[in-house]
Amino acid sequence: MLSASPLALFALLPSALAATTYDMVKEYSGSNFFDEWTFYGNFDNLTNGDAIFVTESVASSSKLAYVDPTTNRAIIKVDNTSTVVFNDKRNTVRISSQDEFSVGSVWILDAYHVPYGCSVWPAFWSQAPDWPTGGEIDTFEHWNLESRNQMTLHTDPGCNQVSPVQTSTIVNSTDCSHLDNSNAGCGVEDPALDSYGAQFAAAQGGVFITEFSESGISVWFFNRSAIPTSISGNASSFSTSDLGVPVANWPTGGCAIDTFFKAQHLIFDITLCGDAADAPNVFNQTCSGVCYTDYVVGNGSAYNNAYFDVASVRVYSVSGTNTIVKGNSAFGVRAQGWVLGAVAALSGAFLVSVL
Ligand SMILES: *[C@@H]1O[C@H](CO)[C@@H](O)[C@H](O)[C@H]1NC(C)=O
Ligand SMILES: *[C@@H]1O[C@H](CO)[C@@H](O)[C@H](O)[C@H]1NC(C)=O
Ligand SMILES: *[C@@H]1O[C@H](CO)[C@@H](O)[C@H](O)[C@H]1NC(C)=O
Ligand SMILES: *[C@@H]1O[C@H](CO)[C@@H](O)[C@H](O)[C@H]1NC(C)=O
Ligand SMILES: *[C@@H]1O[C@H](CO)[C@@H](O)[C@H](O)[C@H]1NC(C)=O
Ligand SMILES: *[C@@H]1O[C@H](CO)[C@@H](O)[C@H](O)[C@H]1NC(C)=O
Ligand SMILES: *[C@@H]1O[C@H](CO)[C@@H](O)[C@H](O)[C@H]1NC(C)=O
Repeated sequence: MLSASPLALFALLPSALAATTYDMVKEYSGSNFFDEWTFYGNFDNLTNGDAIFVTESVASSSKLAYVDPTTNRAIIKVDNTSTVVFNDKRNTVRISSQDEFSVGSVWILDAYHVPYGCSVWPAFWSQAPDWPTGGEIDTFEHWNLESRNQMTLHTDPGCNQVSPVQTSTIVNSTDCSHLDNSNAGCGVEDPALDSYGAQFAAAQGGVFITEFSESGISVWFFNRSAIPTSISGNASSFSTSDLGVPVANWPTGGCAIDTFFKAQHLIFDITLCGDAADAPNVFNQTCSGVCYTDYVVGNGSAYNNAYFDVASVRVYSVSGTNTIVKGNSAFGVRAQGWVLGAVAALSGAFLVSVL
């Protein structure tokens, strides 16, 4: 997969901070943003959300996925104009990139707004078609009125976060196996309060950078005023040495990246309530009332902030290589991340430790 160039060999050095140069190989932006994604077109049968992930034609006609002509940015949103009656679900969007991107890739999400609000559970993440064997990387995810982004890996047993070189000190679990902690994964929260929610929007958003390397997986976040000049503009090439220490890092030493991860589809989704956002002890940490009846049901006024506003998603490959894999299956077969028991158990443990 890697060429024998000096840069590629440098990428194989054990240091988690080995500098690697990447070249842009793919850009999703502007009027062509939605051209190469598959819309799920089914209710949320993956995470038990009270949501219908609409087809491409419904997303387009009801303006749940469109390019804003004034900003030229992509909007991916929850329906906030329809009245939903009790027992029905609300329309929203889940899209998966048709291409997959193999180890040796970086993907950068540049967004001005991410979805938030009570009952809202958004994510920008990736998974291999064969889950959990090919792994899952959650670059951006949180729910309700939480204030920070959380970044998580989910894998087969044997992958752990060991000796990370990262700025965050908020580590929720170091065992990435989907069989442990009821598939909570190995998660890290970003201490920065502008990494999610209203503060993210107030800072005009920023960029989430995911490096999927043989030496490890890393995530960086920069708000708009802090974006390094080497990746602002539309640079065709950059070096990870320009980014500093990542906020989250999973070195290959504790998790053999080539073993636990295969080429990944990129996914945007926004679900409502469901396994994580509506778990006991989770929903009421930041919201009041009942997730489904007080928010999903009704006129949709709860969802005015439930949208992604995306300038671009750019994918890079180790300089001199091309990591694009033309996929033939746009969706993995298994659910994302959390299951009910996991969230209940972990938040229970968290509450107990506070008491
Ligand atoms: C979800 O629904 C789709 C479409 O009916 C189906 O192909 C898929 O197998 C379902 N997935 C699960 C996990 O039930
Ligand atoms: C992760 O840990 C932080 C700090 O203890 C806590 O506030 C947060 O709720 C935890 N996240 C999850 C998903 O348990
Ligand atoms: C943007 O990030 C920088 C660097 O972390 C920080 O100093 C600044 O306060 C942030 N700005 C906003 C509006 O959050
Ligand atoms: C960014 O650069 C790529 C390739 O160099 C090009 O295809 C794309 O149109 C550029 N995007 C913008 C917004 O200028
Ligand atoms: C949240 O709900 C759980 C039950 O699901 C309850 O035990 C807990 O006391 C509630 N916490 C708050 C802050 O209301
Ligand atoms: C929508 O419902 C909310 C909450 O029930 C209510 O406060 C608001 O006035 C309603 N808006 C409209 C336009 O009916
Ligand atoms: C729905 O939300 C959008 C922002 O996403 C807002 O511009 C619009 O006014 C909202 N619609 C209604 C009916 O409130």
